[in-house]
Amino acid sequence: MKHTFLLSALLALAQAGPVNHSHELQKRSSCTITTSNLSEIASIKKSCTSIVVDGVTVPAGETLDLTGLQTGTTVTFEGTTSFGYSSWEGPLIFVSGSAVTVTGASGHVLEGNGAKWWDGLGSNGGVTKPTFFFAHFMDEGSVIKNLNIHNTPAEVFSIYGSHELTIDSVTIDDSDGDSEGGHNTDGFDIASSSSITIQDSIIKNQDDCVAIDSGSKIQFLNNHCSGGHGISIGGVGGTSDNSVNGATLSGNTVTNSVIGLRVKTLSGATGRVKNVGFKNNQISNISQYGITIEGDYENSGPTGVATGGVPITGLTVTGVTGSVDSGAQPIYILVENASDWSFSDIDITGGSYSKKCSGIPSGAGVSC
Ligand SMILES: *[C@@H]1O[C@H](CO)[C@@H](O)[C@H](O)[C@H]1NC(C)=O
Ligand SMILES: *[C@@H]1O[C@H](CO)[C@@H](O)[C@H](O)[C@H]1NC(C)=O
Ligand SMILES: *[C@@H]1O[C@H](CO)[C@@H](O)[C@H](O)[C@H]1NC(C)=O
Ligand SMILES: *[C@@H]1O[C@H](CO)[C@@H](O)[C@H](O)[C@H]1NC(C)=O
Repeated sequence: MKHTFLLSALLALAQAGPVNHSHELQKRSSCTITTSNLSEIASIKKSCTSIVVDGVTVPAGETLDLTGLQTGTTVTFEGTTSFGYSSWEGPLIFVSGSAVTVTGASGHVLEGNGAKWWDGLGSNGGVTKPTFFFAHFMDEGSVIKNLNIHNTPAEVFSIYGSHELTIDSVTIDDSDGDSEGGHNTDGFDIASSSSITIQDSIIKNQDDCVAIDSGSKIQFLNNHCSGGHGISIGGVGGTSDNSVNGATLSGNTVTNSVIGLRVKTLSGATGRVKNVGFKNNQISNISQYGITIEGDYENSGPTGVATGGVPITGLTVTGVTGSVDSGAQPIYILVENASDWSFSDIDITGGSYSKKCSGIPSGAGVSC
């Protein structure tokens, strides 16, 4: 998991131009982006509200810069969008704007060519791997839908500073990375955002399916996660915004993954996790924990001692069905300073309880 938010803020400042709210412009062929020539893209963004990105090969080390779109702009990807290889931070695509719709035409693909970067080290070492898609500062009812994303170098979506954004029916297939060294291919990392809904999407990757690091009113609904580290709140802590307040994770399936459902807060950090609800999620073929709530997280591995500076309060876990592997533990909880939890209708088969839980608030309805 990577935080390139500061870079994003600087880029946005540098690139935010005056926005022309005229909606009278007609779609025309000159609203089709066919190269990644920055000055041509800048003029298309200025004069068009219906933009087609048609089979663009973005040169190595460059961003397909769709920031500062006019309010209400629709961007449609057609054909194959691909990216040259360079060891750099990215992003490969950057979209910002209000009431913006980003969609893909039938048969399109956003081809990340991840294998060129994959070295098994992800964002922890080796070549620098670009973040695939910055959805930063997208607001007022913006939508990203029907995208088909293949083999990203590392993190797929970084969602930051966005409000009222819906991501619907997106397919991320990084499954080649299972055997070819994909790592830290987080599906969706969310920070400092509110009213974000991600639904009806498919995520095949090698890290968190979704990681909600901060924000409020976040919904993750009816998605299918496979191959990675499951659905996660956090790691919360250690950044400039350490509050998750209000998240619903409902109707999802998590399969062939290390973890099913998780909340993780960073060891020694301060912040809060409040009003999180996991509802009616299914898990299967989970290798470590079906459900884990841990207050001892560090990127290098959990410390084994929970700290209480990020209290987890108002946690509801209801309706978890499915199974974990024989070597896995169905539920593992290690927290400090938690209160107001409610677990119900948990039916996870397989595995065994080899590690003791601690810190569960009284009346939570769970023991392990
Ligand atoms: C916005 O675009 C329209 C159509 O091109 C133009 O007539 C108008 O002058 C522009 N407004 C501003 C503030 O640039
Ligand atoms: C980009 O497009 C502009 C306007 O069409 C042109 O003048 C310029 O030479 C192009 N730059 C490159 C690098 O192709
Ligand atoms: C279970 O998940 C692992 C990945 O964690 C995968 O390698 C394995 O093939 C899966 N097993 C089945 C039966 O799908
Ligand atoms: C528990 O959380 C509260 C905030 O709700 C905080 O003031 C307190 O310091 C925390 N206690 C510990 C032991 O970290």
